[in-house]
Amino acid sequence: MEHRTLGNTGLSVPVIGMGTWKTFDVQGSAAIGNARAVVDAALQGGANFFDSSPMYGQAEYVLGEALRGRRDQALVATKVWTQTKRDGQEQIRRALQYFGGRVDLYQVHNLVNWREHLATLEQLRDAGQVRAIGATHYDSSAFGELRQVMQTGRITAIQIPYNPVEREVEQEILSLAADLGLGVVVMRPFAQQALMQHQPTPKELEPLKAFGVTTWGQALLKWILSDPRCHIAIPATTSPARMAENAAAGEPPWFGQQERDYVARLATGRK
Ligand SMILES: NC(=O)c1ccc[n+]([C@@H]2O[C@H](COP(=O)([O-])OP(=O)(O)OC[C@H]3O[C@@H](n4cnc5c(N)ncnc54)[C@H](OP(=O)(O)O)[C@@H]3O)[C@@H](O)[C@H]2O)c1
Repeated sequence: MEHRTLGNTGLSVPVIGMGTWKTFDVQGSAAIGNARAVVDAALQGGANFFDSSPMYGQAEYVLGEALRGRRDQALVATKVWTQTKRDGQEQIRRALQYFGGRVDLYQVHNLVNWREHLATLEQLRDAGQVRAIGATHYDSSAFGELRQVMQTGRITAIQIPYNPVEREVEQEILSLAADLGLGVVVMRPFAQQALMQHQPTPKELEPLKAFGVTTWGQALLKWILSDPRCHIAIPATTSPARMAENAAAGEPPWFGQQERDYVARLATGRK
């Protein structure tokens, strides 16, 4: 697994990590056991960066359980997502309990009340409980405000959507992040399920074999990571086998412009 420095956070991260939206919002011992098996596959594949949020129901708790006894092997990214400072402090208190008293990357989810939450997170960073602070947004209509937050100098990483059918970050966000030295975490590498609905044939994937690509998911992950401004992609899955498949995309060689254009054409049906 290739590692990249997540911008000015200074964290060395694997290029493939894992998200937990929907997939880890589960209850009961069988489902929690499956979540643990997905984390097993992630750790075995070197994809030891895990992203969560209090917005994802039980996911933070389930991730904490799945990491029980092996928190030291993981990098944990989670978020604060609530309107008030006081509720944010309560969310953070709970999350720190799940994750052994420390979080590697704490993000303000969808920029909700970011000014007050950043102040709380800065205190925790100074106290050594948070290693780096970031901000996320999934919707390009909020990218103006995201740029404003990026320019405050108070965050060292962003989390944004990027895949062949959601390319708005190419307009300003990725170049600004590179100029400011911010880490870039890529959410929604498969546009949730959308990019998996119509998959290319094995014959269409054939030209990508020399890049170690054997599945459509790997082609999409390599498409993202072949842009060096992106440091890590965090696909979510309920399947240990798919987690292993996704982790296997985290090795060079990376695509050139020609392969990126080819994958984009496959994704948009413009063959
Ligand atoms: N505002 C925010 O901060 C924000 C917003 C959105 C997402 N995120 C983060 O980004 C993470 C990723 O985004 P996402 O979960 O929305 O979408 P995603 O990762 O683009 O897609 C997830 C879906 O892809 C499927 N999948 C995964 N690997 C696959 C493979 N190899 N082949 C075929 N299908 C595969 C999964 O289904 P199976 O379970 O059946 O494999 C799952 O339904 C989230 O989990 C979350 O941590 C953050």
